[in-house]
Amino acid sequence: EYWSDPKTHEKYKEIISTTPQRKGIWVADLHQHEGFWWSAYSLKGVLWARDHFMPQPNNVILSSAPKSGTTWLKALSFAVMTRSHFDEPASPLLTRLAHDCVPFLESEVRSNPQNLDLDVPLLATHIPYTSLPKSIIDSGCKIVYICRDPKDVFVSLWHFVSKMNPKAMDASALEDLHLEDAFEFFCQGYSSFGPYWDHVLGYWRASLESPEKVLFLKYEDLKNDTISWVKKLAQFMGYPFSSEEEQKGMVQKIVNLCSFENLSSLEVNKSGITQVGTNFLSLKNSSFFRKGEVGDWKNHLKLEMAMRLDQITEQKLKGSGLTF
Ligand code: A3P
Repeated sequence: EYWSDPKTHEKYKEIISTTPQRKGIWVADLHQHEGFWWSAYSLKGVLWARDHFMPQPNNVILSSAPKSGTTWLKALSFAVMTRSHFDEPASPLLTRLAHDCVPFLESEVRSNPQNLDLDVPLLATHIPYTSLPKSIIDSGCKIVYICRDPKDVFVSLWHFVSKMNPKAMDASALEDLHLEDAFEFFCQGYSSFGPYWDHVLGYWRASLESPEKVLFLKYEDLKNDTISWVKKLAQFMGYPFSSEEEQKGMVQKIVNLCSFENLSSLEVNKSGITQVGTNFLSLKNSSFFRKGEVGDWKNHLKLEMAMRLDQITEQKLKGSGLTF
């Protein structure tokens, strides 16, 4: 099959070997490609997706940089789309990690394109907007992007990486992962799919240009007024709530099902393990649920670190109309 064809792998390996490399947060050998830093694994994923992926017009692509609220967005979108046939307590979200309900294009789908036989037309990706396969840009399919205050993204990322089993990754990436070192990497953009700000800006601009194609969400807004944003999300994806559903409290039900409190207390999310790609990486499901709060950076970042991140954010987003 073409995805396991050794020639294709050789071709990607060769391209990847010519890219600039350096150490960064999470991954010891980050590769620079089209202005972003990637693990070799993800870069292979995007090259594969460019060559082979064809979306269906009804696909909705959920996009984010890591630690911006991907798990929550997957759960909410999945619950919205499946509400007519999976009312609680039958929802797969009660027995499966949200990541096992919505596959990532550059990992799960690439390692086994049969994962594209989707019952629910949802796909996820961490690929920056400007590196998305042209087939996605040219298609009618919609994109939902979620982002988050960079200070909370960094703190979330640092915890996530620190908890990882070193054997599962290149162990040298995790040696000496002091908060300060990781922070320096993050500020410089040396993180998977970084620089974070450029990731956000790509989707922000696309959402301004084509609001009917790209819905731009912020974790903080979603947290603040989950009901309104879930209604907007449903409307945008083409699954609007009827007034009857609203009267019956369907929106609230979905919000409750997908809440941090509910999902993080489920057995599957407390003790389950998930496999990313084929033998690439195994992760504890619980690592996707830490605190789920806005502003936890206050408990981890020194004031000068917070100020530095804010300064970078201000400078990077200047003139874009976007603020955090
Ligand atoms: P914290 O580490 O700040 O707690 P991602 O899903 O993109 O990997 O992001 C993970 C972050 O989202 C973690 O943030 C995690 O706790 C939070 N999260 C996971 N599920 C959530 C939910 N249902 N509601 C709100 N936040 C959630």
